[in-house]
Amino acid sequence: MKLFGVYSCYDINLVNGKGMKLSDDKGNQYLDFYGGHGVISIGHSHPHYMFRIESQLHCLGFYSNAVKNDLQEKLACKLGKVSGYDDYNLFLCNSGAEANENALKVASFHNEKTKVIAVKGAFHGRTGGALSITDNPKLSSPFNAEHNVAFVEMNDTKTMLSELKKGDVSAVIIEGIQGVNGVFEPSNEFLKSTKSACEECGALLILDEIQSGFGRSGKFFAHQYSDVKPDIITTAKGMGNGFPIAGVLIAPEIKAWKGMLGTTFGGNHLACAAAMAVLETIEEEHLLENAIEIGSYLIDQLKDNKAIKAIRGKGLMIGIDIDNMSEVRTKLLKEDGMFTGSSGQNTLRLLPPLSITKEEANQFIEAFNSVLAASCIA
Ligand SMILES: Cc1ncc(COP(=O)(O)O)c(C=O)c1O
Repeated sequence: MKLFGVYSCYDINLVNGKGMKLSDDKGNQYLDFYGGHGVISIGHSHPHYMFRIESQLHCLGFYSNAVKNDLQEKLACKLGKVSGYDDYNLFLCNSGAEANENALKVASFHNEKTKVIAVKGAFHGRTGGALSITDNPKLSSPFNAEHNVAFVEMNDTKTMLSELKKGDVSAVIIEGIQGVNGVFEPSNEFLKSTKSACEECGALLILDEIQSGFGRSGKFFAHQYSDVKPDIITTAKGMGNGFPIAGVLIAPEIKAWKGMLGTTFGGNHLACAAAMAVLETIEEEHLLENAIEIGSYLIDQLKDNKAIKAIRGKGLMIGIDIDNMSEVRTKLLKEDGMFTGSSGQNTLRLLPPLSITKEEANQFIEAFNSVLAASCIA
């Protein structure tokens, strides 16, 4: 059997990781400024993470949600404390798309409406419902075409409010910071006005914090830079530092009933151990503070480079607009052994582990500046 060829990937076979460092099967060394799509939060093979997962594996790797799982309750309690959402309820699943899918379902069960408002440029995942609220028709099959969705521009409060006033909206979904689209933030005013219009119109506000959550922005969730408390928050990527786990945080007034949602693997013992290790490490190593410090440092050091057209972001979620982005990215990888991400034609994206040091940031700054200088002269 061969692989179903859906990915255009680098011909690099990574075999080892430690913190920010990666190495391949030929012994080449790399630095990870992208964290495998923003997944690596506490660093590759973190000792506490390995200890937690390994110890759990010696006890029990998996049992289904047919039995009570104490680890889920402990995780919910810890996540509530660390995130500041103590009074919310947690549903555990396996991926970002699945978290969004469940969030949309919860909203629709709650208010018995079907329409969703999403933001232009949004990416919410590739399952049926998540894809229908993702603003990229190229990713959709005919099967995905049937949902009732309106797209509004990011921060276009006027259109958002007039769409909501039609009264048929179940949910509005907004990324804490748009990631795949190139690191764009919703304004406080947009979030606040949308939330109060949702309340008036019986719609729920969902914040997709799958990429921007778990400390990536320097706050636990990026929307915590604003005054808004969403009804539902979705999280994944950094939550398990690579172990597949996702969560839906649900406001207390939204009631669960038996059979409302479900999953076989969601919240399994190993996944809970992984997420617990991530939360403990975020606290223990002050990784939110580090995200702010190193993120601001990177932006500060890079912003005066004339070849950079724009640089934006919060914490360690940074977008840099440059000409020849793809060429620069390839050079960084091939010549300097640095993984970075991309958005569209012009934006280079940085999503390094939250544990990145200043020394590692300096290595990037130096390499990036010299690649930019070389590509300007060429
Ligand atoms: C904001 C956002 N939502 C949802 C998803 C989908 O997550 P997953 O690939 O785990 O299904 C992604 C993935 O990139 C994302 O960035």
